[in-house]
Amino acid sequence: MNKENIYDKLKPDIYKKIEKILKGNKNILEIGCGNCKLVNFLAKYTSSKIIGIDISGKNFKKANKQAIKLGITNLVEYKKMDASHLDGFKDSIFNAVVMVYVLHGLDKPALALKEIYRVLKNKGKILIVDFPRESEAEKIWKEKYFLPEKVKSILTQTKFNKIGIDFPYGRNFLMFASGQKN
Ligand SMILES: C[S@@+](CC[C@H](N)C(=O)[O-])C[C@H]1O[C@@H](n2cnc3c(N)ncnc32)[C@H](O)[C@@H]1O
Repeated sequence: MNKENIYDKLKPDIYKKIEKILKGNKNILEIGCGNCKLVNFLAKYTSSKIIGIDISGKNFKKANKQAIKLGITNLVEYKKMDASHLDGFKDSIFNAVVMVYVLHGLDKPALALKEIYRVLKNKGKILIVDFPRESEAEKIWKEKYFLPEKVKSILTQTKFNKIGIDFPYGRNFLMFASGQKN
């Protein structure tokens, strides 16, 4: 099997896992939504209001077309925004924030986490899905990813509680890091 397809092949399963974790949260923000497929997926299967932000925004038109097809335009919104400056959002408005394959590529991860903390409600959840250091992804994309301990430390420094790091597909594949505000 082509290694570049391992993560793609598991995408439906990864999405289901994310949905299971976030279900029950009314207002969800996805940071770095890219093609916003997860935004649309979460809206369809959780019936929650989901806002996706991305610094690029080049795929928003396509995402909107998909949302029309799925009949979820009332639940989704896509905004061009930088994770380090979530200025368009007031404090404490989201029940959950998720980001997938984004943390390792951020210029200012600590600042983005601070902003995420600010926009989360009390007891709000953060879920970070990313490739860990020494994962299969490093062999495929030749990039260096964060050690799970580093992600834990950034979450701790941002004052998140109930921090958890899981590897649902094994230590060398994907990490699901989570935390709670207060
Ligand atoms: C590897 S892609 C992942 C896209 C999507 N989450 C997925 O799972 O397919 C990383 C995304 O993060 C976005 N991004 C990078 N830096 C960002 C920032 N500072 N603020 C918001 N989005 C950012 C990029 O534009 C890109 O769409």
